[in-house]
Order: sequence, then structure tokens, then C-alpha cells
Amino acid sequence: MENKISDTSARLHGRACRVMPGGVNSPVRAFNAVGGEPVVMTRGQGSRLYSVDGREYIDFCGSWGPLILGHAHPTVTAAVQRAAADGTSFGTSTPSEVELAERLCDLIAAMERVRLVNSGTEACMTAVRLARGFTGRAKILKFAGGYHGHADPFLIDAGSGLLTGGIASSAGIPDAVGADTLVTPYNDPDAVNTLMQRYGTELAAVIVEPVAGNMGLVPPVAGFLEELRRLTRDAGVVLVFDEVITGFRLGPTTFGTLQGIEPDLICLGKIIGGGMPMAALGGRADIMDRLAPLGDVYQAGTLSGNPLAVAAGLSTLGVLIGTNPYPAIARKGERLAKRLRALAVEQGITMQVAQLGGMFTPFFGSGPIRNLDDAKRCDKERYARFFRKMLQAGIYLPPSPFETCFISTAHTNDDIEKFIDAAKTAVRD
Ligand SMILES: Cc1ncc(COP(=O)(O)O)c(C=O)c1O
Repeated sequence: MENKISDTSARLHGRACRVMPGGVNSPVRAFNAVGGEPVVMTRGQGSRLYSVDGREYIDFCGSWGPLILGHAHPTVTAAVQRAAADGTSFGTSTPSEVELAERLCDLIAAMERVRLVNSGTEACMTAVRLARGFTGRAKILKFAGGYHGHADPFLIDAGSGLLTGGIASSAGIPDAVGADTLVTPYNDPDAVNTLMQRYGTELAAVIVEPVAGNMGLVPPVAGFLEELRRLTRDAGVVLVFDEVITGFRLGPTTFGTLQGIEPDLICLGKIIGGGMPMAALGGRADIMDRLAPLGDVYQAGTLSGNPLAVAAGLSTLGVLIGTNPYPAIARKGERLAKRLRALAVEQGITMQVAQLGGMFTPFFGSGPIRNLDDAKRCDKERYARFFRKMLQAGIYLPPSPFETCFISTAHTNDDIEKFIDAAKTAVRD
């Protein structure tokens, strides 16, 4: 039965491989880092994913971050259905996009203006172009293991799929682009300071995930983000917080707003699109107003502010603001992390469990894990074995040791218990 069940996914993946590079539309989905055939999913409901093989999984990947309300939340589904009945795209302004833009500007401290785009990549790519146009400078600084989408300047020492696939930096990036991208370790303010002394006047932007989520979960050490803010302000460098993961993930706003730190530009994605393709770039009015049509920095999009995506985003934010599920999600995150750490101690396994709110990553290695080098020292093979055993037990995790797991409002305490029960065997080697 088990073989027959997985045969369907395997057969589909075989077909996919003949017509799609690697059989997937985004590299990490291919399971290369964890082995085995990717499971092909047909349906999601609440905390569950259902595969084409007829198996049920408790989903801790959450479509890589957007699904804080779980799969097919009734409010979101109804909003999208209503919007679809009125037409899928107009290529004009709409009332709902204005409402969403107002909502984002109300909820996020540093957001005076916002532009809706289609993906986190677009938001980050535009942030860099805008920072360059605004400052008249060319260089940018990013952090090793940070991921800001797949635009050229970000694919040097990047996290997420590149890190998972063992690609230090993507091929196809002109040397000139590489020369303008400086990379330094995350959580090391002294290293940033040194680079600032040397390149401060040439730097257009510093772009950072305020909570790193693409080398596994690595929260910022105390004072790191504040120091970035101070250094960039002193040097006239645009500070970009990439909150594509953290926006509305840890509270009903951005991580920056929660911490009282105001970057110049903010990139959003994932949750603000409620599982539809939408993202946003926003921030200081004097910088944002350099965007066309007001200014000379060009950016555009046929489907930007798409009414279905806006409906999904607005309804997701509506539920989040109306119900404030964040303390409850955080309690589940804490409970899971505590139980997993206890399990590791009981079984004599060296494991760190990074956790913040509903975000967590099990690292098979010794701590502390403060940057990419620390994350890379952990045992990737061991994660792959853990992943496969968890999958077998019906727990769906990100198929990579360098990603973040997510808990949604749909996860129950029983789901957390089921995770721990499965982990009892899965953490054993
Ligand atoms: C922090 C961060 N920024 C940007 C992106 C790119 O977003 P997208 O995949 O929507 O292009 C991602 C994607 O995972 C991300 O995690």
C-alpha cells in the first residue's frame, strides 16, 4: 500500500521532469537536499495538506510563510471568490488596493507610502534600484545567508534555495553586479562598521532580513539592528528591512515596528498576499516618491495590485487584526521548541531549536547559531534523515535544513503533540 501510494507522486514527478527543469517551478521543492521524490499535493485545509497519493500531512511549511491562517481559511476563500466573480484583473486602480495600501501605512511605523508588486523578489529588487536612484550610489551590502529573492545582486552568498542546493553564488551574474554587492556576516556589527568605514560613501543600501529566516531561523542578537540603523543613518545609506517573512508573522505589523526601529524602506510579501502572488515595497515618502510616475526610478507591473491577491491580503490582515492570534501562536511555538529540546536532551542528541513566535528551525549541531557559518556547521544529512522520518509519520517540513518552519492559527495543541510524537523516533539516528 505504502509503495503504491507514493507511486502516484513519483509518476507525476517523472512526467514533470520531462517538461519542467528538475520537475519543479522553484528549486527547493525538488527535495534534492533531503532525498526521495517530492510529494505532490492536491489540497490544503487548516493545518493539513493532502497529497495526490491520498495521504494527509500536518503542514509546518505553510507554503514557505504566507499561510499564517492555515490552508483555505473560510474568510480568505470567500473574499477571493467574491473578487473573482467581479473579474480577475482590470489593469486600472481599484478601491480595494487603496484600502490595502492605507492599512499597511496605518499599521507599519516607517511606511509613509507603499507600492504593491507581485513577489518578494520584485519588492527587494525595486528597493535596491530605488536606493541607487535616490542616493546616486551603486554598491549594496547584504548578509551572508540572507535571501532577498532571485534578482541578480542578491544571488551572491545567498541563503534559501542556493544554500540548500550548495550553490555559493548563481551563474549568469555579470562580474560588475558582483563587484557592487558587498557581503558580510549576519549579527556582526563590528564587521558592518569596518565595511562602512571603507565603503560608506559608495553604498546605496544595506538590505537585511531583521530576523534571518533563510539560513534556518537566526534571530538578531541584541543591538545588531539598532547598530545597523545608526551606521546607515550616519553614512546616508538607505536601510532596507526585508520583512517578506516577518511582516505580520510575529505581530500585527512588521518586526521593525515591534522593535521600535524604523528602516528607510520595507519589503513585504507572503502573509500580506494571503497565499496569492502579492508583495509590497514601502517606506519614507521622500524615497518612495522617486518611483515613476512621480519620479525617475522606473517600476511597473501588469498584475500589480491584482484584485484577487488584494482580496486575499486584505481578508488575511482583517482576521489577524480582528483576532490577534499572535500570543497563542507564540505559545504553541514555545511549547514545541521546549518539548523538542527536552527530547534531544533525553536522547543525548546535539540539537539547537531556534524559535521566535510561530517560527522555528531544528539545527542538528552545537550552538550558538548566530550566522551562516554556524548554520552550515550543522549536520545536513541528519536533517535529511529527520525530514524523511517525519514525512513518513505524516509531518510535512520544509525540505531543507536551511529554512524556517511555521505554525499557523490552524495548528492545534494536538498537532504540536503529533509533531513531538513523530520526532521521538525521527530524531534518533
Ligand atoms: C526574506 C525573503 N525575501 C524575499 C523573498 C523572495 O520572495 P518571492 O519568493 O515571493 O520572490 C523571500 C522568499 O522566500 C524571502 O524569504
